[in-house]
Formats: sequence, structure tokens, C-alpha cells
Amino acid sequence: MKALVYQGPGNKVLEERPIPEIKAPTDAVVKIAKTTICGTDLHILKGDVPTCSPGRILGHEGVGVVQKTGAGVTAFREGDSVLISCISACGKCEYCRRGMYSHCTTGGWILGNEIDGTQAEYVRIPHADTSLYPILPEADQEALVMLSDVLPTGFECGVLNGEVEPGNTVAIVGAGPIGLAALLTAQFYSPAEIIMIDLDDNRLQASKCFGATATINGSDGKASETVMRMTGGRGVDTASKQWACRHPSLHARTSWPRAAPSLMLVCMASKWIFTWSACGPGTSR
Ligand SMILES: NC(=O)c1ccc[n+]([C@@H]2O[C@H](COP(=O)([O-])OP(=O)(O)OC[C@H]3O[C@@H](n4cnc5c(N)ncnc54)[C@H](O)[C@@H]3O)[C@@H](O)[C@H]2O)c1
Ligand SMILES: [Zn+2]
Ligand SMILES: [Zn+2]
Repeated sequence: MKALVYQGPGNKVLEERPIPEIKAPTDAVVKIAKTTICGTDLHILKGDVPTCSPGRILGHEGVGVVQKTGAGVTAFREGDSVLISCISACGKCEYCRRGMYSHCTTGGWILGNEIDGTQAEYVRIPHADTSLYPILPEADQEALVMLSDVLPTGFECGVLNGEVEPGNTVAIVGAGPIGLAALLTAQFYSPAEIIMIDLDDNRLQASKCFGATATINGSDGKASETVMRMTGGRGVDTASKQWACRHPSLHARTSWPRAAPSLMLVCMASKWIFTWSACGPGTSR
């Protein structure tokens, strides 16, 4: 099969690889129909993710069709159309029982990181019963692949943890796929204002189509002052950060929230992922 392989910082290669085999009774092998590229893949390619070694097939998102299942898989069988979660979860360990699947002791964010991932024709999915979701064969696969990681991450990290409430003012820094997902799903909670901040005017333009009430291009380094001016000096209720920063002091400077309990500064940072054990895919705590 063809697979996109990380070969060290700045280096990715399309290689011929063997089709993966079932290794544990709880595994399934899925033929990939659609996959996509996450900002986290770009961090790997920059060499910022030490758990991902050269030789690894990239990718943690996908939809496809089950090709094979181990003897212990009961929820899926060959031919089933499935959505692959970016987080593999055993469903049984202490963390899984607490709903903290990204901390699963034998799973978490392993696809395209510690084990081969989805940017290939086939992928082996561990803990298949609790890491795959059934989808209709005729469903829109390009839309559904956004549910592997992008939409739930923006929603969980950016909106649920940010405790967005009706009438709130929300600022989202970073209008990439994750920031746009936070923008879309924040609207479930009817905030009064959603201010999108980015350095790229095209992405800010897209944000307006997705429901941003205001946009700020922060290239002049004055986004914080602009937010304070726009909010009459009050700041925002939820500040949700959806881009990678490398240093925690960046957070301290982002002091916009009105009230500390509703402070929400998600750092999707490569360096934070490991030093602060925060924010690999699927993680927000
Ligand atoms: N925790 C998780 O579960 C999880 C899951 C997926 C992605 N991520 C992380 O989320 C982050 C965002 O992912 P993405 O796919 O949307 O990435 P992306 O690179 O497409 O988007 C990031 C956006 O931030 C903007 N940006 C960069 N520096 C900025 C600055 N100083 N001020 C304002 N905007 C700035 C960029 O212009 C870009 O539009 C990545 O770091 C990724 O690793 C985390
Ligand atoms: Zn991701
Ligand atoms: Zn587990």
C-alpha cells in the first residue's frame, strides 16, 4: 500500500508499505476512504513532537471500511463503514472510565504518533470497539472526516472548557480548522459576540461566513488592545486560543477575560503538549 511517512524534521516521503495485520484480538484493519491533515501533523513535520519517530506513517483522522477484525471485536465486522477517532480508547482503564479517553493507558493519541496512522491506504486500529464509530455507507465522507478530530476538538477544548454561555463575548485566536470549529460550535450556546483573531485575512474572511461578529488581524501586535477597545475595556468572557505557541508567558500576556473562572486559554502548542502534558489531539486537560 502507499503511505505518507515521516522521515525526520522537514522530510516526508510517499512509500510502499505492507498492509497492516491484526496484532491483538481487539484490533481492526480499516481501508481508508478519506483522511486529512491536522495542524498537529505540521508540528510533527517541524520536529516538535518527540514521541513521533522517523519511519512513522502520519495521520490520525479518517473514514473508511473495515477490512478485518480481531477475534475480540464485537461491534464491527468486515464491510462496515466507520469513522476513526483520533483518540484510541480501551474503554476499561481508569482514565477511560472517567471519560478521559486521551489519557487511556494503552491508547490516547497514538495514531500517526506512536503507531502508524491514517495517511495510508490501510490502518490498524487498536481497541476497535471503542475507537471506531459506525457511519452510513452513503454518508458524506468528506464532511464526516471532520468529526475524527477537528470539530470535537474545537468544541471540547474551545467551547465546553471555555464555558461559553448565552450573551457572552468570546475571542478565538487562530482561524484555522480548529478555531473555525470552535467558532461554529460556540454558536450552540448563543454568545452575543464572537471575535476571531488571526494574521491571515483570507481566514478572517472565512470566519465571517461561519458566524464571527467581528474579526481582527493581529499582525500589528495590537490584538489585545483592539479587543479591549471593542469591549469598552471589559475584555471577553472566554478567550480561546487555537494556534500553537511555544512559551507559556504568551498566555500570561493574553489577559482578556473578565472573570478568572471563565478564563479559557487553550494552548494547542507543540512544546506544551509534552512539557505541560496538555493538548495533544483530543486533550484539553
Ligand atoms: N488538543 C487537541 O485535541 C488538538 C487537536 C487538533 C489540533 N490541535 C492543535 O490546534 C492548533 C490549531 O490547529 P489548526 O489545524 O487549526 O492549525 P492551523 O495552523 O491551520 O491554524 C492556526 C491559525 O493560527 C493563526 N496564527 C498563528 N499565529 C498567530 C498569532 N500570533 N495570532 C493570531 N493568529 C495566529 C494562523 O494564521 C492560522 O490561521 C495546532 O497547534 C494543532 O496542533 C490540537
Ligand atoms: Zn489532529
Ligand atoms: Zn483506556
